[in-house]
Amino acid sequence: MFAISQYNQLALSGVDSIKDVEIFDTTLRDGEQTPGIALSPEDKVRIAQALDNLGVSYIEAGFAGSSDIEKQTIKQINDLGLNAQVLSLARSVHKDIDAVIDSGCDYVHTFIATSDLHMKYKLKMTPEEVKARAVDSIEYARAHGLKVQFSCEDATRTDLQFMKEVYKAVQDAGACSINVPDTVVVITPKAMTFLISELRKEISIPIAVHCHNDLGLATANTLAAIEAGATIVHTTVNGIGERTGNVALEEVAINLLANYGYECVNMSRITETSDLIQRITGVQMAVNKPLVGANAFAHSSGIHCHGVMGNALTYEPFKPEVIGAQRHIVIGKLSGAHSVEGKLEELGIKFPADHMDELMATIKKLAVAGKTVSDAELAAVADDIMWKKSEEKKECSLDELTVITGKSTTPTATVKITRADGTQVTVSDIGVGPVNAAVNAIRKAVNDAMTLEEYKLSAITGGSDSMCQVAVTLKNVQSDGAMTFGRAVGTDIVETSVAATMSAINKDFARVKKDN
Ligand code: KIV
Ligand code: ZN
Repeated sequence: MFAISQYNQLALSGVDSIKDVEIFDTTLRDGEQTPGIALSPEDKVRIAQALDNLGVSYIEAGFAGSSDIEKQTIKQINDLGLNAQVLSLARSVHKDIDAVIDSGCDYVHTFIATSDLHMKYKLKMTPEEVKARAVDSIEYARAHGLKVQFSCEDATRTDLQFMKEVYKAVQDAGACSINVPDTVVVITPKAMTFLISELRKEISIPIAVHCHNDLGLATANTLAAIEAGATIVHTTVNGIGERTGNVALEEVAINLLANYGYECVNMSRITETSDLIQRITGVQMAVNKPLVGANAFAHSSGIHCHGVMGNALTYEPFKPEVIGAQRHIVIGKLSGAHSVEGKLEELGIKFPADHMDELMATIKKLAVAGKTVSDAELAAVADDIMWKKSEEKKECSLDELTVITGKSTTPTATVKITRADGTQVTVSDIGVGPVNAAVNAIRKAVNDAMTLEEYKLSAITGGSDSMCQVAVTLKNVQSDGAMTFGRAVGTDIVETSVAATMSAINKDFARVKKDN
């Protein structure tokens, strides 16, 4: 299932606190602070249920003191009787803690900023006042029967001695755990290891860590904290949160499983939970987002597809099924025959090996502009080739096609058609549009009595450079009243319409040959 690195095994032996790590999910609190996200009470209840199904240990359901609706929503979530511990954020002030008490939660997460910058410019309080406020909030919450996790906001810019003093004081006042937020991301993994190790010397209650991702270090910093002994990890699903977000739950969870062999949540539910959060919040993941981006298990280049088809672990760190996802072969400019064969198999299309060269040539043409060939396009092209090959030897081949069209120009088409006996005709005609002009010219070259009974154009995929399918029904190709059907796919409407018309004509000649 996993390509476990020998280096992890060598370097990580002795990191035993991993097995106690609990996920404290704050999708409903810090996640909702993502610019542009506003969750309705129904959304929040649905997400809380999904987080519980995922198996997180704590759900920070919101900030009860922020509004009556928020308080009521937290109450609704708390009343669900989930397995997870439901809690609310509160500033270190009585009125915020009262709101948590009203919500029915028995756990509160209090915080106050402890960095010089925040104390001076935001709180306008002295360090002594801040410490006293932190302790008072713990005592007040405990006196009302609440369990408490306490955070020094902006911990990573806080003087170490002062931070130790505050955390020791709140521990003595009855806090159940402390949390170390890297509020604006000023720390590297090595420094995080140092900080947590320093705190562990003084603090005996569990230590949580809350990493933001402004410098792209959230996962690395979180793992460093865990390796140093932090046992509670604040996360959000998909890494949503203030500014560039918080550490992504799925990234922490897969690292714990893949690198340390510890499953902290029900991994097979990761993809469905991520999809739900993307749908509800409207925040779509970048295609290259680890685990949950569209390309996480997509393979395009021929070499990689070949490897993956032999053994998926050649080019995947773990199988997508681990997180309830699926592998995709993506057909594009660098795809080789192996990739295309793999994709055809994935789509359930039995394609004859002796037509593979033609299929590859068509794909290369389509993908030349860096465009990927969608499943629908590949299926249509494969089907078209199989359809064309099933036709009998051609009676009429189109050797040349010229179409002139534009504003204030009468659309005019010229075709050169060679018959099976070697005779050639070159004919021009006009029409109401370029397609009409081309079909009129073909009619003149083959048989004036022929009529176009039906013409259907459909787009296979969206976009102006996408593929189209044309289906035509012709009558009287050989003046005997018979109807014949032809179709073709391509990127150019005129060329595809002409190909469909020629296909119908040749089918009609084949019919008559068979009848004789
Ligand atoms: O990032 C932060 O500092 C926070 C605190 C409220 C814990 O979200
Ligand atoms: Zn935060």
